[in-house]
Amino acid sequence: VPERRITVTVNGARRVVECEPRLLLSHLLRQGLRLTGTHMGCDTTNCGACTVLLDGTPVKSCTMLAVQADGHEVTTVEGLATASELHPVQEGFREEHGLQCGFCTPGMMLASKALLDRDPDPSEEDVRWALSGNLCRCTGYQNIVKSVLWAAAKLRSEREDQ
Ligand code: FES
Ligand code: FES
Repeated sequence: VPERRITVTVNGARRVVECEPRLLLSHLLRQGLRLTGTHMGCDTTNCGACTVLLDGTPVKSCTMLAVQADGHEVTTVEGLATASELHPVQEGFREEHGLQCGFCTPGMMLASKALLDRDPDPSEEDVRWALSGNLCRCTGYQNIVKSVLWAAAKLRSEREDQ
């Protein structure tokens, strides 16, 4: 199968890659670009561990072809923190103990970021709904929800200080 050349902006960096048309976005990220923070839990669109943002919208990267990301922006968990600072969502998960094994955490964080980007003051129900495509087998979800609400409050207070 002839390879296709695609251009994807990943975590702010423009990447030009050759890939087979059948290559999944998750495999491009993990094997092609060595961004292994995107986890693979099921490969069948069920668990959400592979969630990344495509132009700011959460997508399950095991359910997209890499060529479908051609010309788009992808954010993975590696793109959340700056060199010196964690993203407030990451801080929230640390403060409220939103993870145990951490397998679901990258996907949870990206789905959370997408929620907070569009709704700075979500209710607990809004958070649960936004994370309904992401499964966690460890935490019972309670601390994950608290983590996202913590991040929402932090982001609001940062905005008020500006
Ligand atoms: Fe993509 Fe589970 S690995 S949804
Ligand atoms: Fe283990 Fe969520 S922390 S699956």
